[in-house]
Amino acid sequence: MVEVKTVELSGDEVLGETAFNAKCAECHGETGAGRNGMAPPLIHKIYEPGHHGDQSFLIATQIGVRAHHWPFGDMPPIDGLTVSDVANIVAYIRALQRANGIE
Ligand code: HEC
Repeated sequence: MVEVKTVELSGDEVLGETAFNAKCAECHGETGAGRNGMAPPLIHKIYEPGHHGDQSFLIATQIGVRAHHWPFGDMPPIDGLTVSDVANIVAYIRALQRANGIE
């Protein structure tokens, strides 16, 4: 849904990319670009750190999200991720956000 500039990743961000591709990309698209009819882009101003802090990713993953910004329905809780897996995913998404001017 959006054009995402990619960036060289390091450490936690690489682990986050793997976890994201396994658990999130099916809805949010590879590189968090969004998938029409499924889920919004996370590389989007709405999800900049000041509006959706790191904690909101943990809450979304653990208890899900009630649809409120988009017409795609609710996000279900996502099983099989530890708190540190989610922290890695956040590191990955923040790296992509920064590369795309979202800070
Ligand atoms: C089954 C599809 C689906 C999957 C899988 C999914 N999401 Fe979502 N997610 C959504 C939808 C739909 C929304 C938008 C809800 C709305 O309208 O605001 C959303 C919203 C979010 C939000 C915004 C939360 C908020 O407070 O507004 C975050 C953060 C998020 N997802 C992260 C993730 C992460 C991280 C993963 C993988 C661990 C993931 N999502 C997997 C469908 C999905």
